[in-house]
Amino acid sequence: MRNTGLRALIKKIPGAMRLAKRFRVGSPPRSHRRFLLDMVPEHAVGAEIGVHIGDFSAEILRTTSPRELHLIDPWEHQKSDVYKSAWYGGQAKSGQTEMDERFANVGKRFDEQVQAGRVIIHRGFSTDILDQFSDAYFDWIYIDGNHLYDYVKKDLQVSFQKTKPGGLITGDDYAEGGWWDGGVKKAVDELATGEGIELVELRNHQFIFRK
Ligand SMILES: C[S@@+](CC[C@H](N)C(=O)[O-])C[C@H]1O[C@@H](n2cnc3c(N)ncnc32)[C@H](O)[C@@H]1O
Repeated sequence: MRNTGLRALIKKIPGAMRLAKRFRVGSPPRSHRRFLLDMVPEHAVGAEIGVHIGDFSAEILRTTSPRELHLIDPWEHQKSDVYKSAWYGGQAKSGQTEMDERFANVGKRFDEQVQAGRVIIHRGFSTDILDQFSDAYFDWIYIDGNHLYDYVKKDLQVSFQKTKPGGLITGDDYAEGGWWDGGVKKAVDELATGEGIELVELRNHQFIFRK
């Protein structure tokens, strides 16, 4: 619950907490990605590729209580014109300084969970970092890094290799267009026609595969 004043009041009234939970009084609105997190097993080992400032990481922690959550992002400013509309390109007005600040803030934001060993922050490119893990290490992976086709294709390939049989390979921004010119959709559509993987759901621009 986000509204602590309301929560404190509800706690004082016998039976009110149960009703508040049932009808979601005082709770943050359900995000468009909540259905995906509802499919992710609790207390599992997962990874988020592309962390930015950690907003979705916080939602993952809150809703799925992972045993290990690996946060992977290079926090590297991209100067090329291709990235002029990206949060880690032209939209980061202070360039690499801003990326360093985001990295530092994510470290502070999850300090408690890092100390507890539940969150592991990796500063690096997705494929380099995932390569360091043994095959079938993860229960699930969420792909939300570089959205250009070649990168998503590689992220999907490596994630497939690093996810357990029965595990989930998921991600964001399944849509036409964007500065990435539909790269996520193209790579996902291609994988969906492949062998040994089941496309479970496409909803709210999210994709979910089961290995
Ligand atoms: C769309 S943002 C991630 C948003 C985050 N998942 C959320 O929902 O709050 C994309 C992030 O991907 C990161 N990124 C770019 N290229 C990457 C790569 N090759 N591997 C991992 N992360 C990458 C960027 O630095 C940026 O922080």
